[in-house]
Amino acid sequence: MFKSRILGAGHYVPERIVTNEELSQMMDTNNEWIVERTGIQERRWYTPGVDTVTNMSAKASRMAMERAKISPEEIDFIVFATITSDYFLPGAGVLLQRELGLTSIGALDIRNACSGFIYALSVADQFIKTGMYKKILVVGAEIQSSALDKSDEGRSSAVIFADGAGAVILGQSHSDQHGIMSTHLHADGSHAEELYCIAPSSSGKVRISQEMIDRGDFFLKMNGNAVFKHAVVRFMEVIKEALDHNGVTKEEIDLLVPHQANLRISQYIQQKLQLPDEKVFNNIMYLGNTTAGTIPIALSQAWEQGRLKEGDLVCLAAFGSGFAWASALLRW
Ligand code: UT7
Repeated sequence: MFKSRILGAGHYVPERIVTNEELSQMMDTNNEWIVERTGIQERRWYTPGVDTVTNMSAKASRMAMERAKISPEEIDFIVFATITSDYFLPGAGVLLQRELGLTSIGALDIRNACSGFIYALSVADQFIKTGMYKKILVVGAEIQSSALDKSDEGRSSAVIFADGAGAVILGQSHSDQHGIMSTHLHADGSHAEELYCIAPSSSGKVRISQEMIDRGDFFLKMNGNAVFKHAVVRFMEVIKEALDHNGVTKEEIDLLVPHQANLRISQYIQQKLQLPDEKVFNNIMYLGNTTAGTIPIALSQAWEQGRLKEGDLVCLAAFGSGFAWASALLRW
């Protein structure tokens, strides 16, 4: 059995910055409310005709490959977490494979929303452990802003979600001191409709109709309160599960990288775990919530900022639509 290790991380976010001020011109909201309830000051939204999930993830992937010091030809497999693929089908993985000029390697899509990246990492980890693949490109990327209801009705979701891409290269670890120690995946589908998007749906009469558009079936719908309440419980549970499984204490964590759902959720977890500020990575203040993109983007930025050092104990945790939640514990 091999152990897997993150060899490099990269990210890309669209150039367009959307401030709270700009949002307050579209809907009944204001900077004070958004900052107080979410911690977000600004976020990035895609520019139609310029940014796609494919080209953003390709940029993030190239950065990850460069930092891992590997060439595209060395990639054996792609695992792509997104719920906002450019096409309804085929999935995002094959489009990224083409964009990177890779031929015939497998490409797998994961649709677990905010927990998608940890699910993807877990799948890639199993392939490396068994020796089936040596280097896997693991991606989390989204364009959420095109699914946001920017009227007063959709304001609680519209102020949170954003666009961006992150990627890591997972490879074999040649030392016991580095690598993924464990991953923990959970779901509870009984809450599916607390955060969901109805259309395009395969089980209706047609997948797209004027009626569906008029009804707003293409918008992301979220019961923010319900999601928040479950999130704070599940985040804590799944982090504890990872720590207990590996026989380590919360004090030993060097960096917690939570899915960037809402700064208040991250602060709640930080407080419960009694971690000092330097041990928790947050970038939601200026990037918003990019669903499957948040954790790989955060890893890339944390590495750039020198907050990830060889041998550091890093805990990843996420909660979101499904509900699905997950954690991973690793030595950088
Ligand atoms: O990514 C993973 C999944 N997502 C999450 O984890 C998100 C979890 N949920 C949240 O982050 C929060 O629930 C929200 C940020 C979405 C909402 O914050 P909240 O503190 O739960 O607010 P609320 O929904 O309880 O609404 C409080 C008030 C309401 O007004 P009334 O009924 O008290 O008069 C809302 O209508 O705030 C109002 N409101 C807003 N006001 C200004 C809701 N959205 C806005 C807004 N601007 N954007």
